[in-house]
Amino acid sequence: GCSVMAGAVGLLLAAALLGFLQTSSTFQVNDPDGKLCLSANFSMKFTVEFSTKSKKQNTTFQLPPDAHVIKNDSTCGNKQAPVEILVVGFGKGHSLNMTFEKKDPSLYVVSAFMFKFNLNDSSLFPDSFGELTEVKKGSDIQANLNTKYLCHSNNTITTGNVSVVLSNVVIEAYVTNSTISKKETICSEDKSTTTSPIITTHTPATTTSGTTTSVPPSAKPEVGQYSVNDSSGICLLASMGLQLNLTYSIQNKTVLSKVLNFPPNASSSGKCENVTVTLNLTSGSTNISLHFAQNSSTEKYFLHGIVVSANLPSEATEKSIKAVNNSLSALKATIGKSYKCVAEEIILVSDKASLNIYDVQVQAFKIAGDKFGAVEECQLDENNMLIPIVVGAALAGLVLIVLIAYLIGRKRSHAGYQTI
Ligand SMILES: *[C@@H]1O[C@H](CO)[C@@H](O)[C@H](O)[C@H]1NC(C)=O
Ligand SMILES: *[C@@H]1O[C@H](CO)[C@@H](O)[C@H](O)[C@H]1NC(C)=O
Ligand SMILES: *[C@@H]1O[C@H](CO)[C@@H](O)[C@H](O)[C@H]1NC(C)=O
Ligand SMILES: *[C@@H]1O[C@H](CO)[C@@H](O)[C@H](O)[C@H]1NC(C)=O
Ligand SMILES: *[C@@H]1O[C@H](CO)[C@@H](O)[C@H](O)[C@H]1NC(C)=O
Ligand SMILES: *[C@@H]1O[C@H](CO)[C@@H](O)[C@H](O)[C@H]1NC(C)=O
Ligand SMILES: *[C@@H]1O[C@H](CO)[C@@H](O)[C@H](O)[C@H]1NC(C)=O
Ligand SMILES: *[C@@H]1O[C@H](CO)[C@@H](O)[C@H](O)[C@H]1NC(C)=O
Ligand SMILES: *[C@@H]1O[C@H](CO)[C@@H](O)[C@H](O)[C@H]1NC(C)=O
Ligand SMILES: *[C@@H]1O[C@H](CO)[C@@H](O)[C@H](O)[C@H]1NC(C)=O
Ligand SMILES: *[C@@H]1O[C@H](CO)[C@@H](O)[C@H](O)[C@H]1NC(C)=O
Ligand SMILES: *[C@@H]1O[C@H](CO)[C@@H](O)[C@H](O)[C@H]1NC(C)=O
Repeated sequence: GCSVMAGAVGLLLAAALLGFLQTSSTFQVNDPDGKLCLSANFSMKFTVEFSTKSKKQNTTFQLPPDAHVIKNDSTCGNKQAPVEILVVGFGKGHSLNMTFEKKDPSLYVVSAFMFKFNLNDSSLFPDSFGELTEVKKGSDIQANLNTKYLCHSNNTITTGNVSVVLSNVVIEAYVTNSTISKKETICSEDKSTTTSPIITTHTPATTTSGTTTSVPPSAKPEVGQYSVNDSSGICLLASMGLQLNLTYSIQNKTVLSKVLNFPPNASSSGKCENVTVTLNLTSGSTNISLHFAQNSSTEKYFLHGIVVSANLPSEATEKSIKAVNNSLSALKATIGKSYKCVAEEIILVSDKASLNIYDVQVQAFKIAGDKFGAVEECQLDENNMLIPIVVGAALAGLVLIVLIAYLIGRKRSHAGYQTI
């Protein structure tokens, strides 16, 4: 009985696996020397609205198994134009085009999609003819260089009369040494449960190399006001207190941490781009760069990347520290609204650096009237508001219990007097 069960489960697993493999295809691009520069696995489901003589109509289909890389149109780019392009052809003259670009500080992004359909193909587009081309500039697909981008979740790309659902994505562009990286950048949709900020506990951490001696928790940083704009207006507004917590070792292997309040009058700069908004803050030798990204399919924006660099105290074995994390999903809110958190939020940049954010209100991308939009409160604040409510309810319950107990007690003692 047991082995039959195991066999059945095995078959089911194999079937599920086959089903999964069938729906996603692998596409690879090599440079003229044969070196691999781009590898992509994904499934795509298209919904295309097209016109026949009499009416408009939708057709829906998957990327078919005959999809293949069009080598002549795909490219690894070159030194002058380091743009990688993947062109995939399928069916009767249909194609899709994904353009990859490098982005500061160490990212690659899908900067454009292009879809081309041959409407003469009556198996997909009955009673129609001609050609339909749609281009979508920008995307929220981005990953650290030398990592593969993983996204199991559905990501919908809509442009003109074409809507595409992208899923089971494994992509690496700018592959080094013809080897797909083992490191991964996981898309925020796949890890929506790991985004909650960590609550501070002021217990000194111990590491294998020694003990951590924390500087006593310093005063809160002052709140600074920051904004980033370009010719078309403001793309970032922020009001927040910033504190850096840097960990470093000294000669005798003792690990120390230095807490640095970032001054509110720091010089700030930034960039408004279609898919990212950057805020760059500099004070002396300390630099904090915050990168916001947006997810057009879920209408959310979030703090996606942090780059921190600072000099360390002279007793440190290293002169300075540089920490980068490009797979964050912090300070997340709906596009058009602002994110607000009174509670301190600790964002780990690396094992040696964290950014502590106090009293934050921030909004990126769409900002109507150059003012913060409606507020979306962080989870921590909502929990904090919950505590007084819970305590209040508990106290009310206690009072009620005492009252009932008192009334019952009185009744009992009355009964007692009556029997005598
Ligand atoms: C892509 O999918 C193919 C099967 O279709 C699989 O053999 C290959 O290992 C996958 N590549 C990556 C990078 O996941
Ligand atoms: C695409 O949509 C527009 C607006 O809905 C429409 O005018 C146009 O005819 C459509 N194109 C095709 C090829 O169906
Ligand atoms: C086609 O689908 C789109 C979105 O999925 C919808 O807005 C549109 O009305 C549909 N068109 C037709 C002719 O059904
Ligand atoms: C690809 O390009 C080469 C030369 O650049 C050409 O000879 C060949 O016919 C092209 N193939 C296709 C399918 O266009
Ligand atoms: C693919 O798109 C890029 C722009 O994103 C364009 O430069 C290139 O010509 C396109 N390639 C094809 C074959 O359409
Ligand atoms: C579609 O058919 C028309 C004639 O019916 C022809 O002129 C055109 O080149 C065809 N387009 C493609 C992409 O095959
Ligand atoms: C950004 O979006 C605007 C408007 O949608 C467009 O004109 C511009 O070309 C885009 N820029 C890039 C770099 O994609
Ligand atoms: C993606 O969308 C398909 C329908 O198009 C649905 O069946 C599937 O469950 C979705 N997958 C995820 C991970 O949401
Ligand atoms: C490239 O790969 C070869 C063998 O696969 C290895 O010996 C070499 O160290 C690699 N180079 C880099 C820079 O990773
Ligand atoms: C700074 O980091 C250390 C080690 O991670 C930790 O023990 C300490 O509590 C942190 N201090 C502050 C103020 O965040
Ligand atoms: C390392 O040096 C610091 C000060 O230089 C001292 O306070 C600490 O006790 C030393 N730790 C060890 C393990 O020697
Ligand atoms: C941030 O600004 C500093 C100084 O103005 C500059 O050196 C640095 O390159 C900038 N960083 C980014 C990511 O823009």
